[in-house]
Amino acid sequence: MRKNKKYQVSFLPSGKSIKVSPGYNLRQAILDCGLTIDSSCGGVGTCGRCRVKVLKGSAESKKTKFISPEEEAEGYVLSCLAEIKSDLEVEVPEQKESRAKIIGGKFRPEEYAGVSSSELSEVEVEPWIIKENLTVEKPSLSYGTSDLYRLKKSIAGKTGIKGPEIPITIIRKLPDDLRDRDWDITVIMDRENGVLIDLHSGHLDRNIYGIALDIGTTSLVMYLVDLLTGEVMGTQSGYNPQIKYGEDIINRIVYSNKRGGLARLKGVMVDTLNKMIVKLVSGSSINARDVVSVMIAGNPTMMHLFYGVPPRYIRQEPYVTVANRFSDSTTREVGIKHLSNAHVYCLPGIASYLGGDITSGVLASGMYREKELALFIDLGTNGELVVGNSEWMMGCSCSAGPAFEGGGVKCGIRAADGAIEKVSIDQGSYKCNIDVIGQDRPRGICGSGLIDVIGEMYLKGVIDRKGKFNQDIGNKHLECVEKDCRYILVPAGESATGENIYISEVDIDNLIRAKAAVYAGIRTLLEEVDLHTHDLEKVYIAGGLGKHLNIRNAVIIGMLPDIDLKKYHFLGNTSVTGAYLSLMSGNKYNESVKISEHITYIELSVNMKFMDRYVAGLFLPYTDMKDFPTVEEYLYR
Ligand code: FES
Repeated sequence: MRKNKKYQVSFLPSGKSIKVSPGYNLRQAILDCGLTIDSSCGGVGTCGRCRVKVLKGSAESKKTKFISPEEEAEGYVLSCLAEIKSDLEVEVPEQKESRAKIIGGKFRPEEYAGVSSSELSEVEVEPWIIKENLTVEKPSLSYGTSDLYRLKKSIAGKTGIKGPEIPITIIRKLPDDLRDRDWDITVIMDRENGVLIDLHSGHLDRNIYGIALDIGTTSLVMYLVDLLTGEVMGTQSGYNPQIKYGEDIINRIVYSNKRGGLARLKGVMVDTLNKMIVKLVSGSSINARDVVSVMIAGNPTMMHLFYGVPPRYIRQEPYVTVANRFSDSTTREVGIKHLSNAHVYCLPGIASYLGGDITSGVLASGMYREKELALFIDLGTNGELVVGNSEWMMGCSCSAGPAFEGGGVKCGIRAADGAIEKVSIDQGSYKCNIDVIGQDRPRGICGSGLIDVIGEMYLKGVIDRKGKFNQDIGNKHLECVEKDCRYILVPAGESATGENIYISEVDIDNLIRAKAAVYAGIRTLLEEVDLHTHDLEKVYIAGGLGKHLNIRNAVIIGMLPDIDLKKYHFLGNTSVTGAYLSLMSGNKYNESVKISEHITYIELSVNMKFMDRYVAGLFLPYTDMKDFPTVEEYLYR
């Protein structure tokens, strides 16, 4: 073989192409080309979602259960298992690519925040990033102190901040900035840390702004906030582009360990954030230089990836982070463009799988100030829990996986236009009645719809307590080929994809595992302090499922405790809400630090009680029906 030989790989229908070395991984070539390929498992061959069709040339692929011999003969391969052995022409499914696109600039509080922008504006405004107009004393032959000395003296006199930290980037411009407007200047200060963020010559009468940012495993949400009034000036939201490298945090960590993986994960995320910031700022009438701070909340893995810090030890025993709270930085240091003078802060995390997003959530819920026993649940990609009150708090992460965000379920998609969000089943005909987000025909089913389906199938006898289909009830919507049965929710002719939208026993199994992990986490946390679910006085629900979640169905499937439904409260995206509160108030930010220090973390992966509870949860609703008295009464009355 000639040395340095390259093969040309062309992708359809995009028309993009790339030259790669012999044996190069086909999925990697797709990603290198800037295309998106559905890859829930991050490229380890276990999700079956990265299939492509080789139209010309040869790619050598390992055998996989996801590709039948007939499909193999037609040219189908899993791209993550295929090596490039010649020039290739490859068809990459186009529809999947749209899953990772930014949703756009529409503010959808019902989906992303749970509170309206006007409600957010009513919170305590106690700015700790401040703007002050100063007149610095002029030097003279009899008063020949340095410019820097006189600047610090003026700052101390006006703000009380003694010996502020002045970055060298500001000192470089200082002589001109001071003299340009006859010693009149405006300073932007971080009052909590005594740091000068920016300096303008002249007295400015413009307001200053900040960005509250939630970096989720699945989505990114940001608010542009007036730091003097608390008003939310605009919002942006979109998918985390790292999804193409793996849907959950474990697969992201695995990918970050590959050569160039960490830089790639950080790069795609920061690129997307930069685009969102441009839209956010250009959509308002403000000057980008007046955006002076960014407050971030995210889970530990996302924060490591954002700061470019290797997250690999998070998944290796004894499961530690590099840092639970990253140092305050400048936008330049973290790669954020367009906001050249802003400082970047993050909410402190608690432990390896309990991050600043949960600290933020506890802050937003207010449970840390209340006497009542409360449970906080963030039902996102992972499933994090905190239980306690003003005197004590304990937390854990229960590895629920991405099933409730559409991952690991064949027809699962995230909550977006075309997603089935509500389902009920007719008792006699077993026909599904569905509600779809937006005006579109259904494309798939999202988390709240999946919980409804499992609950309804169980109540109507479509499945048994183990999640297996009852095949002798005359259900015409059940299609079985040998042992592979699928319950058709929407027939091909009525869906947006032209294919059946269905749920299979494998899907049901994945969802039952996810719900078992959540409930086992709740029981285990409570048992650590000799309490039971009936002791709970409030349950706060945060996360992606949001207001679409039918609590009753979540109880019926055994995911949430069978307690008075009035105790449940939806909070929406508390991660961004807590970031907003911390941005607006120094007191709140200091409280978030105390919260993170106050929560005792329980590691469930080595907890035998958790394992017992988890196994008990692999039935609907639970092995011991006494835990679910109202469900038992409904079923056996
Ligand atoms: S099977 Fe290839 S990415 Fe999951």
